[in-house]
Amino acid sequence: MKKHYQFENDVEKILFSEEEIAERLSVLAEKIDKDYFGKRPLMVCVLKGSVLFFTDLIREITLPVEIDFMSISSYGAGATTSGEVKVLKDLDNRLDGRDVIIVEDIVDSGFTLNYMTKLLSSRNPASIKVCALLDKPSRRKVDIKADYIGFEVGNEFVIGYGLDYAQKYRNLPYIGILKRSVYEK
Ligand code: IMP
Ligand code: MG
Repeated sequence: MKKHYQFENDVEKILFSEEEIAERLSVLAEKIDKDYFGKRPLMVCVLKGSVLFFTDLIREITLPVEIDFMSISSYGAGATTSGEVKVLKDLDNRLDGRDVIIVEDIVDSGFTLNYMTKLLSSRNPASIKVCALLDKPSRRKVDIKADYIGFEVGNEFVIGYGLDYAQKYRNLPYIGILKRSVYEK
């Protein structure tokens, strides 16, 4: 039976259902399996937004992956980022010679991803690629693109499946558009 979440009235529209997300993830995982055949990539979960995506994705990947976690904050609460980025929790692993896959929730302005790829590239990895659940190309401020993308979204604020607004909605199993009234009041 479908659960009814107590804050679901804030959702304007469901964009991607649990089933659609699961289907897309298995396609992404198959690509990663192929591209990294014979390798042991280090998959980096960017906390907190990509945590649901990350745990579902790694279960679909059949390679002997390793995992690590990084927490990044872009300054400024609310629905926009300021461009300033800070590391709240760094990786446990050294990156020398590793094939790194950064797993992000959404690429919006691109500031966060730009900062992360530059920082991790400076640590001498064999390769770095980015796998993003969502891409919002209409809002890009830095010329950067993920190598693997789940879905493209328009210029709307989306929540659920790990993504939040003011730390809420992360536990929704699907991805939806947040009602404007929620963040414009
Ligand atoms: P960027 O640095 O502007 O690319 O922003 C990246 C971060 O902003 C993401 O990792 C999210 O945490 C957050 N973000 C951007 N757009 C959305 C959205 O529509 N919903 C929820 N979080 C978002
Ligand atoms: Mg994020």
